[in-house]
Order: sequence, then C-alpha cells, then structure tokens
Amino acid sequence: MVWPAVNAAHLFDSHARFQRFRSEAPWRVQVTGRGEAVVLEEWRSHLDVLAMRGLWCSGDRVPPLVEQVARVAAGQGYGRLLSPLVAVGVAPVYERAGLSVHGSIIALRLDRSAWKPEEPHPAPGVRLRQVLADDLPALVRIDAECFDEFWRYDPDRLARYLMEDRLVVAEGPEGPIGYTLATIVRDSGTLGRLAVKPSARNLGTGEALLREALSFLVRTGVGMVSLCTQEENLASRMLYRKVGLTELTGRVVFLMRQTGFAGKRSRE
Ligand SMILES: CC(C)(COP(=O)(O)OP(=O)(O)OC[C@H]1O[C@@H](n2cnc3c(N)ncnc32)[C@H](O)[C@@H]1OP(=O)(O)O)[C@@H](O)C(=O)NCCC(=O)NCCS
Repeated sequence: MVWPAVNAAHLFDSHARFQRFRSEAPWRVQVTGRGEAVVLEEWRSHLDVLAMRGLWCSGDRVPPLVEQVARVAAGQGYGRLLSPLVAVGVAPVYERAGLSVHGSIIALRLDRSAWKPEEPHPAPGVRLRQVLADDLPALVRIDAECFDEFWRYDPDRLARYLMEDRLVVAEGPEGPIGYTLATIVRDSGTLGRLAVKPSARNLGTGEALLREALSFLVRTGVGMVSLCTQEENLASRMLYRKVGLTELTGRVVFLMRQTGFAGKRSRE
C-alpha cells in the first residue's frame, strides 16, 4: 500500500530494496488505519536522531502522527526526531507538532541546455579514480574534516554507498584529498556528496570532482540531475553556479524535536 508513495518520492530505487528495508526492521514503516504512512530511518549511527524520510498525511494530521512517531522513536532509543525535507511554506505544519527549523537547504538542478561537458582538470599530481574498499577510512576522515556532526557520514553509511552507488576519489601524492558520491534512482541522478579536505582546497580539485560526477550522471542518460547544499555554504554555491547548476527558487528545510527519550541509545 505504501509503495506507490515511496516510489513517487524516489526513496528507494526498487520495490525489492524497499521490501528488504522493511523486513530488516518492520517498525521503520508505520501505517495507520486511515491510510497514512511514515517511513523512518536512522539519520547517522553516531547520533541519536531518527529521520522521517517520508510522511504521507493531511496537514492537520501531522501533529498527532508526529506524537505517535516520537513515541516509536523514543521506544527505539532515539532522543531526537527529524522531519522530511519540506518546503519552507510547509514548516509551520511541523512547528505545530513541536519541531523547530534545524537547517535551510537549497536545491539545484543541472540546466542540460547550458551544460558544456569539459574534461576535469585537477591540479598537477592529483588524479580522479573510482573508490576502492581500502579508501574507506580516508573517506571517513575527509568527511569528518569537511562536515559537522549532523552531516558527516558514519563508516557504515560510506561502506553502503561503496556497494550501492558511485564514489570517486581525488588522490594527491599523499593519498585521498576529496571525493564525490553520485546516486541514480531510476530517472534521477543526484550528487549526494562533494568534499575536499581543507588543506587541499582552492586548487581546482572540487571543480574537477564535480565536473567528473556531473559528466557521469549526464552520460547515464538520467532525465534530471540535482543536488542540495546548505544555504550558508557560499563556497559550494559559487562552485555550483560556475559549472552551470541553477538554484531552484524556494528554500527547503529540516525540522527537529526531542522525543522524550533521555537515556543513552544502545545500538543492539
Ligand atoms: C566546496 C568545496 C568542495 C570546494 O572545493 P575546492 O577544491 O576548494 O574548490 P576549487 O578549488 O575547485 O574551486 C572552484 C570554484 O569554486 C568556488 N569556490 C571554491 N571555494 C570558494 C570559497 N571559499 N569562496 C567562494 N567561492 C569558492 C569558486 O567559484 C572557484 O572558482 P575560482 O577558483 O575560479 O574562483 C570545498 O570547499 C569543500 O569540501 N567544502 C566542505 C564540504 C562542502 O561544502 N561540500 C559541498 C556541499 S555538500
């Protein structure tokens, strides 16, 4: 029953993967007798945050459903509940359910008519290549240097991306200095990550990684290429504009609230 909505939201790339997600932990897919549904997933394994990846109900039903989900989250040992990414105009609906805005995001799309593929030109001594399993510890370190606790990936998540998506690393003489994550869900390509470690910035590596990932996504023939960045992240916004990505009008936001769980979460 939930699959058509989950499918339309591009949350999983196949029904089989959604079924596997559900069978691993059935509590992550909650359905009410009224046909409302929510799909839940741990945000990061180093945080006590449970994310609502999708919530399908009318606006006036958001507060009672969020209360219900907060109880589920607390029962699973999560101290905080994160909203889906919603248009800023929808935020008041979640605020009425006790959530507060946690961050403002800008979505960008590649304008295919303006996109001029260019060979990536990393700085001398830097090369781009597909990530290997041995690179994972370096990627975890780069991620931790580039993103705060809320955004950085945990090792399990990066290992999953290595299996399921496309990771490309920029390697300098002393090892990996940056990477990208590109994901394809049916007809949509997403740049899920772009990171260059602080000591290696302003040398063209970010631009080379970005061009390589966008060229890959365009080559695969997906209908749309998009990505998100934080509103305050001016460096990335300048870079994205430079290569031909267009910012969509309207902001989207994450909202967060406490669940009432005060203990320390066990990962068992
Ligand atoms: C954004 C990021 C990837 C840029 O990497 P980089 O290797 O330093 O970027 P480049 O040297 O290739 O810069 C290319 C262009 O980006 C823009 N840019 C990069 N850093 C910038 C800064 N600090 N301020 C303004 N513009 C900047 C410029 O347009 C620059 O072109 P120019 O040199 O002709 O002016 C890097 O700063 C980073 O990893 N930041 C933290 C993680 C992050 O924000 N990721 C992206 C959002 S999810």
